This record gives sequence, structure tokens and C-alpha cells, in this order.
Amino acid sequence: MRKPFVAGNWKMNTDTHTSVNLARRVASDSSELVGHNITVAVFPPFVYLHSVAQAVSASNIAVGAQDVYFEPKGAFTGEISASMLKDIGCIYTLCGHSERRHVIGETDELINKKVAASISGGLLPILCVGELLSERDASKTEEVVTRQLKNGLAGLSTEKVSAVTIAYEPVWAIGTGRTATSQQAQEVHDIVRKLLAEMYDSELAEETRILYGGSVTPGNSAELMSQPDVDGLLVGGASLNADDFLAIIRSAA
Ligand code: 13P
Repeated sequence: MRKPFVAGNWKMNTDTHTSVNLARRVASDSSELVGHNITVAVFPPFVYLHSVAQAVSASNIAVGAQDVYFEPKGAFTGEISASMLKDIGCIYTLCGHSERRHVIGETDELINKKVAASISGGLLPILCVGELLSERDASKTEEVVTRQLKNGLAGLSTEKVSAVTIAYEPVWAIGTGRTATSQQAQEVHDIVRKLLAEMYDSELAEETRILYGGSVTPGNSAELMSQPDVDGLLVGGASLNADDFLAIIRSAA
């Protein structure tokens, strides 16, 4: 049985005050659900991770990083390692978010190293996959998602992949207000689960949580969650508003 998972990716938003307040409010108002019925994690910007992790340390809310570097330490100016993230209380990492792929230019090969480094460092990576609008229009969704999944998990054993969550985020649905229909999400989640069964085994495929992301709101979260292979939601904009994010958590729990 896959426990629902709602994650809030704050991207490059909030400040010291608003990040801590938002996390505290989410933690306190979801305390009766989180842990038992649902997993909830927030992904603040790096600079607020420590204060947010401290603010929610007595709750069941987990904290994750929006990115991670694959080297353990050394001369990598500006980068943050898995052990540093673990040190300040992070549990999760996002690897290969579409903005890192398409704005920053991260490759499947780099993302694979980040997934591997997260697991080796004792963190739980969320590997993000998803096609561009031009790729969907050219009927390449399955091809793109398959490539991103296979390359992102390359070289990892079944045991290691059991630490991974997958997030399907169609790029055309991110920040656009144009959510994938629940059927479109289900179709791709089904492809991902079948692929996991093919690459590893059916037990791993059945246990892996696959989240949907892209313009999730309190108005569409329940419908998305009603699909058999949608196990959770990766929420951007709506996770910055405590009331909206809490409503999404309730609808998923
Ligand atoms: P929005 O919910 O703002 O579309 O962002 C989705 C996303 O990228 C979450 O990682």
C-alpha cells in the first residue's frame, strides 16, 4: 500500500520570516494527518533549509532540498553536498526538476549522479521527469519519460532504487495554470510503473510512489489523486499559500 505523498517545492521564493512561518503553519495544521495517513515534505531554498528544518523538527513534516551536488566535498564553489544536507536535517532531495533541466541545462547524466549521491548520502531523492509541449505534440511523451527514467536511474540496484520517488511533471503544465487532465497523468504514471517493473521487479514497481506535478491546486488535487497510479502531488505555486497547501494535503490524505 503506497502512502500518499504531498511535497511543496517553494522554488526561489520566501524569505527568513515567511519560510519559517509557512512551514510552522503547515506542520501545526496538518499534524493529525501527517505520518499516519500521508507523507508531507517542504522544499525551501537552500539558505532557509536550516531554519525551516529546526522550525518543524518536532513535527512529522519532512524537509528536502531542491537540488544537491554529487561530489561529497571539496573545491566545487557554490555547490552543496548530500552530507551537508543530511547534517542540517534534510530527508529528501529533488533531482532533475524541469527548471534545472531546461533553465540551468542539467543533463540526464548529471541528474543520475545526483540521484546516486543522494542515496549514498542517506537522503531520499525525488527524480523528476516530464516532456516539453513540443515533445507531447510530437507524440514523444513516452519516449522522453522512458529516457529520463532509464538514464536517471542508470547503474542503481533495486535496493537503491527503493529509496527513490518519481515525480511526473509535464513541462507544459508547470506554472502555466494548464494542469494535465487526470487521465493524461494516469497514462504517464502507468507507463512509469510498468517501466519500473521491467527495469527492476513488480514488487519495486508496486511500492514506488509516483507523484504528479504541474499547476496542482486545491481545485484539482482530489481528481488527480483519484487515479490509481497517482500516489501524490508535487506542488509549486500553491505550496506557498498555507491554506491552499493544507487543502491539497487534506484532499490527498
Ligand atoms: P506549479 O505547481 O507552480 O505549476 O509548479 C510545479 C512544480 O514545478 C513543482 O515542482
